Amino acid sequence: MDKLSTHLLEKARTYEQSTRISVPAYDTLFAVAQAYFRSHLGEQEASLLVVGAGGGNELSAWGPTNPLWTFTGIDPAEEMLQIAQHKAVQLELESRVRLLQGTIESLPQTTPKFDAASCILVLHFIVDRQEKLHLLQNIHDQLKPGKPFVLACAYGDRESDELQDRIKIWQSVFLDAGYTKEKVENMGKVIMNISFISDQEIQQLLSEAGFKNITRFFSSGLFAGWMSHA
Ligand SMILES: C[S@@+](CC[C@H](N)C(=O)[O-])C[C@H]1O[C@@H](n2cnc3c(N)ncnc32)[C@H](O)[C@@H]1O
Repeated sequence: MDKLSTHLLEKARTYEQSTRISVPAYDTLFAVAQAYFRSHLGEQEASLLVVGAGGGNELSAWGPTNPLWTFTGIDPAEEMLQIAQHKAVQLELESRVRLLQGTIESLPQTTPKFDAASCILVLHFIVDRQEKLHLLQNIHDQLKPGKPFVLACAYGDRESDELQDRIKIWQSVFLDAGYTKEKVENMGKVIMNISFISDQEIQQLLSEAGFKNITRFFSSGLFAGWMSHA
C-alpha cells in the first residue's frame, strides 16, 4: 500500500465516521432514496446521475443491491473521487460506474439523459442562489421527463432561533460521540460558513428549476431530503 493510499484510506474512514455523526440516520436517507428510485424505475436497467459522488457512498448504498443500475458520478474533488473509485473496485462495481472530475457542466454533450439523479450533501456548499438554481436546472435538463430526483442538504433560516437550536443539538451529538468541547465549539462556528437556506426556499428553487411533486421525505438534525420529478 503506497503513502497516498494510506492517506486516502484514512481520509475515507474519517469521512465515513464524521458524516454519520453529522447526519444522524444518514444510512436511512440512502435506504429511503433507494426505495423511491426503485418505486419509479422498477426492476429494469436504469442510468443514475450522482452529483457530488465523492466518497462513493451512493455507489456502496445502491450499487450492490441494484445490479441493473449504472452510475455516472460527478465531483470536482480529485481525492474524493479517488475514494469513490476505490469503493467501486472493492465492491466490483467498476463496469457499472463512470466517475468524472468536475461539475455537471463537464458532462459530455453527447451523454444520454438519465433515469434518475441524486445530489446529496452538496447544495449547501454553493453560496450564490443563482448558482444553486443553475445546478438544479442542469440536473433537471439531464433527466428524462418525469424521472425521479433526490436532493439532500443542510437547511434552515440563518437568523432563526430554530436553526440555532438545531446547531446546539448537532454539537451535542458530536460531544456524545467523544469529540472534545473545544473542537465542537469551533465546529459550531465553522458550520455557519455553509449556505443555509430555508426548506421553503429550497422547494422554491426546485420548482423554479422545473421539478414537480416536491416532497420533503427526510429530516435529521441540520439536514433534510426532498424527492421530486423532472
Ligand atoms: C459532503 S460530500 C458528499 C458526498 C456524497 N454525496 C455523500 O453523501 O457521501 C460533498 C461533495 O460535494 C462535492 N461538490 C462540491 N461542489 C460541487 C458541485 N458544484 N458539483 C458537484 N459536486 C460538488 C465535494 O467535492 C464533495 O465531494
